[in-house]
Amino acid sequence: MQKHSTLGEFIIENQEHFKYSSGELSRLINSIRLAAKVVNHEVNKAGLVDILGNAGDINIQGEDQQKLDIYANNIFMQTLKNRQIVCGIASEEEDDFVTISGSDKANNSKYVVLIDPLDGSSNIDVNVSVGTIFSVYRRITESGTPVQLEDFLQKGNKQVAAGYIVYGTSTMLVYTTGHGVNGFTLNPAIGTFYLSHPKMTFPEDGTIYSINEGYYIHFPQGVKDYLKYCQLEEEDRPYKARYIGSLVSDFHRNMIKGGIYIYPTSSKAPTGKLRLLYECNPMAFLAEQAGGKASDGYMRIMDIKPTELHQRVPFFCGSKNMVAVAEKFMQNYPQDSEY
Ligand code: AHG
Ligand code: MN
Ligand code: MN
Repeated sequence: MQKHSTLGEFIIENQEHFKYSSGELSRLINSIRLAAKVVNHEVNKAGLVDILGNAGDINIQGEDQQKLDIYANNIFMQTLKNRQIVCGIASEEEDDFVTISGSDKANNSKYVVLIDPLDGSSNIDVNVSVGTIFSVYRRITESGTPVQLEDFLQKGNKQVAAGYIVYGTSTMLVYTTGHGVNGFTLNPAIGTFYLSHPKMTFPEDGTIYSINEGYYIHFPQGVKDYLKYCQLEEEDRPYKARYIGSLVSDFHRNMIKGGIYIYPTSSKAPTGKLRLLYECNPMAFLAEQAGGKASDGYMRIMDIKPTELHQRVPFFCGSKNMVAVAEKFMQNYPQDSEY
């Protein structure tokens, strides 16, 4: 029987991929693994909220109960801070980035992390899969000094690692360090992630489209045209519509089965909804590493120069050929055309 390595073993075995590696990135991924297990435990208890107490209540120890997205944010921030393996963190849940200081060791670390601690949080109340998304960059300012905004506003093509955790029917951690994408499934009985999905790839073509079609009337004409194309009775169409409303879960399904995820601009949200730094760049890195494609409809997501931490962009991501077709429909119209 083939041996299934644990995530811990896999991290050590693959450390040699990194020239001049000091093991810092390995320790960083290890911390994310640990935080993921803690958050997973809490997410799994979400259905017991009426019994154990609501967010906003005072729990038995007299502490305030936190909403799950705030809880997840705190766990990831604390785990990374306590171990002092990054010099800065930016989170979707925080207005500004956080500088990790207080010890020489922390200030000398090379990496910054960006996270969406709980993605798809509106699904928590209904027992539907949610996720965590993370992204890692090497700082560009001088080591040993406090991190600066420019360390976070790097193009996605500078990412060193990215990944997500999907808290689903089983919990998986899927990540890349630029050498393909590997997926690990948590065995909850013993709290160990095992390599269950080595070398994950997007099928080049797919038959699933994932978009919140309820907003159809507000979409740009290129998106409307593409959706009509998806629904035509021709070749392998009409495609199946599948939309969970949690990017991580929609992406995960589409990577396994073949599909496209779209969150376009709309007359209501002229720059889209998803965040470039916390959601789109990490998913784009994973998509490309898995042979897929990610675009804003006009250009590669990872080539966009970020201008602010919480910047939003339209997002087309998934099977390579499907994204290429969607881009063609978009490019029939100028990027800033009327809806
Ligand atoms: P978050 O919970 O981190 O705010 O992200 C939710 C995002 C994404 O995961 C999901 O695909 C999308 O918002 C759903 O938005 P709509 O409800 O507008 O479709
Ligand atoms: Mn999100
Ligand atoms: Mn979130």
